[in-house]
Amino acid sequence: MSEIPQSLGVLVLAAGKGTRMHSDRPKVLQSLLEEPVIYYTLNAVKFAGLQNIAVLVGYHGEQVESYIKEEWPGVEVIWQHEQLGAGHAVKVAENWWERFDNVLVLSGDVPLVRSETLEGMVAKHLGVAPRCTLMSFIADDPSGYGRVERLADGGVRIVEEDEAQDEERLIQEINAGVYLFDTKALSVVINEINNDEHEYYITDAVQLIGETEGDVCVIICDDKYELLGVNTPNDLAVTAKVLNKRIVRGHMLNGLKCMDPASTWIGPRVELDRDVFMEPGVQIWGKSYLANESRVGAYSTLRNVRLGSHSRIIGPSVISDSDIGERAEIGPFACLRDDVRLGADVRVGRFVEVKNSVIGDSVKAPHLSYVGDASIGKRTNIGAGTITCNYDGIRKSRTAIGEDCFVGSDTMFVAPVSIGNRASTAAGSVITKDIPDDSMAIARQRQTNIDNWSQRRSITNCRTDGPKED
Ligand code: UD1
Ligand code: CA
Repeated sequence: MSEIPQSLGVLVLAAGKGTRMHSDRPKVLQSLLEEPVIYYTLNAVKFAGLQNIAVLVGYHGEQVESYIKEEWPGVEVIWQHEQLGAGHAVKVAENWWERFDNVLVLSGDVPLVRSETLEGMVAKHLGVAPRCTLMSFIADDPSGYGRVERLADGGVRIVEEDEAQDEERLIQEINAGVYLFDTKALSVVINEINNDEHEYYITDAVQLIGETEGDVCVIICDDKYELLGVNTPNDLAVTAKVLNKRIVRGHMLNGLKCMDPASTWIGPRVELDRDVFMEPGVQIWGKSYLANESRVGAYSTLRNVRLGSHSRIIGPSVISDSDIGERAEIGPFACLRDDVRLGADVRVGRFVEVKNSVIGDSVKAPHLSYVGDASIGKRTNIGAGTITCNYDGIRKSRTAIGEDCFVGSDTMFVAPVSIGNRASTAAGSVITKDIPDDSMAIARQRQTNIDNWSQRRSITNCRTDGPKED
């Protein structure tokens, strides 16, 4: 082996139609625990310490390209305008990979692959130095995959399901779709593969290298789930379950207390401090962070949420894009969304919706309210049934409520309106004008009592001398 370190490129194939997904969205952007399928493949590549990454796009490629540009800076995008098969895809990218000594080619649709597996494969390939290394695994049910046929001369042939003879179909060793090529050998054979009977198969390149260029080494991956390809909606469901199990177990190893791991769903970008507690049916998605001693109640969903330490979500509650301070108590049946920021010791109770609002420390809104486009100062109490009327049919306006206020039950704040510190409102008020500091606003009709109403009503009800019907 040469003394000079070998250079290596990684080509992730993501141009295919994914016909079996029956979707307008490209397969690699299908959602898996609320991240695109390709997120996992790229993450494994990244954690294997590999650089020089390019993603090959084609079918709805503009969607894939904009995802890559946004979320994976530094990863290149190469176009395959016509999808003539994975072999054709590799050929299209030749100008890119020929600058490296080796190229790792893998499908963007194998989200369960682990970084350790890729690292091991690269190390073995660079150590043994064959012209090609192929990854395989032994499947309980090999249907739908290419079978790895070991040839007498030590070579390898991959037979696709459609073209396999009955006895070949019985082979359980299957092609994982992860290949490492010596780029010089690949350059020689890539123009040799043809599509007389089918699309351009990358698997033909493996066989040709074995026949004309040198050794093909096969690494058998011993985890039968790791290289499951995602081709159908059912594959998505199966894969999501496997990934979720890995993620939940990983968090439990770091201190998560989870009542029912099987019904708990946690996305791959979620971060948890130690001693977080989850009841059954919880879902945590996106870029969420849950601090120490926080607790999420049954059937609650959190998406892009920062939850402060010792805070408690009583389920079911639905919270997204929000930042919740320490020792909060939220729910049950609370809904917080679109940039809500809560201070410490806040109580947002039963059937309360909060949207795009900043709420100070120790505020309490215990029952049945809508707080939207508002700011509420520290220690203010919001009575049951309070509503910020933020929308006049044309535009949204803000409500600003000061500190230490007492908002009577069933107050309507017709925004834009602003309420001073230590102000109060009478129950049932419709507030359309600003309230100065320390004032009490009463904005409702004065009560009228009608004397002897019940007697008068019974007389009215007993009248029998109404108009006659003919
Ligand atoms: C492929 C392998 C099969 C293997 C399986 C493992 C071939 C011929 N077969 O089958 O042996 O067991 O993967 O999962 O390779 N792609 C492009 N451009 C194209 C066509 C495909 O970029 O024109 C990409 C796809 O996006 C996908 C990858 O190539 O990421 C593989 O294509 P796919 O159609 O999924 O192949 P399989 O039928 O799964
Ligand atoms: Ca596939």
